[in-house]
Amino acid sequence: MTHILAIDQGTTSSRAIVFDGDIRPIASAQLEFEQHFPQSGWVEHDPADIWVTTVETCSGALARAKLSAKDIDAIGITNQRETTLVWNKTTGEPVHNAIVWQDRRTATICEELKAASHADLVQATTGLLLDPYFSGTKIKWILDNVEGARAAAEAGDLLFGTVDCYLIWKLTGGKVHATDATNAARTLIYDIHNGVWSKEICALLGIPMSMLPAVKDCAADFGETDADLFGAAIPIRGVAGDQQAATIGQACFEAGMLKSTYGTGCFALLNTGDSPVTSQNRLLTTIAYQLDGKPTYALEGAIFIAGAVVQWLRDGLGIINDASETAALADAADPGQELILVPAFVGLGAPYWNPEARGAVFGLTRGSGPKEFSRAALESVGFQTRDLLEAMQADFDFSGDTVLRVDGGMIASDWAMQFLSDILGAPVDRPVVAESTAKGAAWLAGMQIGAYPDMAGFAATWEKESQFTPNRDDSWREGRYAGWQKAINATLAMTE
Ligand code: G3P
Repeated sequence: MTHILAIDQGTTSSRAIVFDGDIRPIASAQLEFEQHFPQSGWVEHDPADIWVTTVETCSGALARAKLSAKDIDAIGITNQRETTLVWNKTTGEPVHNAIVWQDRRTATICEELKAASHADLVQATTGLLLDPYFSGTKIKWILDNVEGARAAAEAGDLLFGTVDCYLIWKLTGGKVHATDATNAARTLIYDIHNGVWSKEICALLGIPMSMLPAVKDCAADFGETDADLFGAAIPIRGVAGDQQAATIGQACFEAGMLKSTYGTGCFALLNTGDSPVTSQNRLLTTIAYQLDGKPTYALEGAIFIAGAVVQWLRDGLGIINDASETAALADAADPGQELILVPAFVGLGAPYWNPEARGAVFGLTRGSGPKEFSRAALESVGFQTRDLLEAMQADFDFSGDTVLRVDGGMIASDWAMQFLSDILGAPVDRPVVAESTAKGAAWLAGMQIGAYPDMAGFAATWEKESQFTPNRDDSWREGRYAGWQKAINATLAMTE
């Protein structure tokens, strides 16, 4: 009987899920951990929290499945991407907290690189834009700001890794320093065309190449867990960044297939096949997955605040007690009011890429209250997704009709999914297994050991639970979207 353990180390929690031989989740455990905000725009994680919650959730999921480590055939890892760790290779001690993908502290470094005309080189080599989001400038910040770090890095004593890489290193007892191509593709220092770290960009950022991990396929040998950790050594055989793992879990294996994941943020990935497409519309070019040495590319649109806007209704405004209340409030909102919320709480991601933008609300009246705010919050997620799809459609000729496969916590809301379909004017497919991210990681590991079907066999098992189709006409759709665009332009104007 096959069992695969998927580790999903995310931005706000760590999860572990045991999958059975039919790639069905049978047991899981989840632990949230503390977010550190040392200054405005800064976001950090304590590496010890990342590690301890990962180990505890693995043990918890095994216990719930009534299995022990020797019953697990392989581990697949998926993770929050871009988040940057630097640690001492002898002591294993991180030299600084993990700098989280949302962290904006390197905005000035990015501006300086742009002013020195390096943006084209970076985009042409890495497919990414010069934004604090990615790892490269975060590594530079650590080397420039942590006492002794640069000298230690130059002496070959420090290692860099994204979260997958750090976990692999810890799980294998410091034996393996490796990452996969999808995580490497988010660092700003990886050449996605040639599959190597870019010497030129590393030199530009002052990053010694000795810090960098080996880059492997998503399904590959990443070593074995230290036997003392769970009671038996478990092979690590699959790794992908969480959005790429969701793309895999959603079986978006054909060029033109598209998925969107609604977690803290929203990340839409469009499979573009064997060739990387350079965006003319400020999307990212990235690696969707790499198997047998062959990368498949994607266009990605990243929105920083999606599910987090509902958290803000709960924790910031205090107008709901639970996320599940939002839809009923939205449904009861006054149809005569057109409140528009631009949730630029940490700047704006694709396609605007403005780290200085901050949130704004338009159309407030004396009658605006929790219902209207709830509706505006859910609608902001749909509007932002439409921004991404508009950019994708301009960059890439979709064959046939666009269908969006969705996953993540927010898809539980029928109201939000219906609005999404209405504002996109396209069908939205909700899968039976909502755990697309963990499922993708599990499939990679299980396929690598020969326990799960190949790509075509796996794609054939994908099933939709429901499909939302547009209920509104074009004039409604274009009218509402025009209102959103005005609100976005006004928000961006505030940063000028
Ligand atoms: O790029 C950041 C992304 O990988 C984080 O995803 O689900 O942890 O918010 P999530």
